[in-house]
Amino acid sequence: MSQPSQFAVFGHPVAHSLSPRIHQAFAQQSGIALEYRAIDATPEAFAAAVRGFFAAGGAGANITLPHKGAAFALADERSEAATRAGSANVLSPLPGGRLAAHNTDGAGLLRDLTERHGADLRGRDALLLGAGGAARSAAWALLDAGVETLTIVNRTPETADALADAIGEPARVHTRYWDDLANLGSYDLILNATSAGVLGGGLNLPMSLVGARASCYDLAYGAAAVGFIAWATAAGARHAWDGLGMLVEQAAEAFALWHGTRPDTEPVYQSLRDG
Ligand code: ATR
Repeated sequence: MSQPSQFAVFGHPVAHSLSPRIHQAFAQQSGIALEYRAIDATPEAFAAAVRGFFAAGGAGANITLPHKGAAFALADERSEAATRAGSANVLSPLPGGRLAAHNTDGAGLLRDLTERHGADLRGRDALLLGAGGAARSAAWALLDAGVETLTIVNRTPETADALADAIGEPARVHTRYWDDLANLGSYDLILNATSAGVLGGGLNLPMSLVGARASCYDLAYGAAAVGFIAWATAAGARHAWDGLGMLVEQAAEAFALWHGTRPDTEPVYQSLRDG
């Protein structure tokens, strides 16, 4: 009998990654035999670990913090989504030992927002907090989905300006200073794409940002999203969602790339939500 195909998620740390559980659940649902491991690699060891994994026949890898930029850099071919984000959460083998980079975070975010939560993004005035890898994917996705305006605010303003320049739509995309958040008025869609919660910190955001019918979304989930969700709720947001659904949907997009079939995400999402 041939070996089941080998998949892995690379991160540092990675022990708590939900990706093995998600991909195994998708595989079971689809009747596909695979093995999916979590591989902890330090930034110094990352490139060699990835190359070793694919040289040994690895069929696909997910990439998580802090390696998404490095994964993008080491790939030989890059999808448009990966190029826009400047980072990759999916690596797939190409003939001749070459690697293809893809990024499914933006597509996963849109699926979660629009299909799971029923959000209509068209015509919205969106505020994006952060301008790192996650924020870059989110920015392009929101624009693709038809938001009217996108205001990007980052602690380091140069990074927000660089993202806005890369997008190149000055009529729709604006940047503002973090120190000015209290003077910006309100938004009807606010996304937290900073890693403040993941790093164990808070953001201390003004409640005036939250419009009467606002939807707020944290790209992180679990404990990392608690502070932002609590702020949004206290500020009167109509909806405050965390990024657990985005995690499941970005995995489903990767699964579809590798296996040619899109899994039913809802039972997997519900089982993770239930703990
Ligand atoms: P990710 O892949 O999660 O996007 P990243 O590329 O390291 O990670 O980006 C982290 C983002 O969170 C950045 O926008 C960062 O702001 P800076 O560019 O100023 O570093 C933002 N961030 C992290 N901690 C923050 C904090 N305490 N307050 C505000 N922004 C923070």
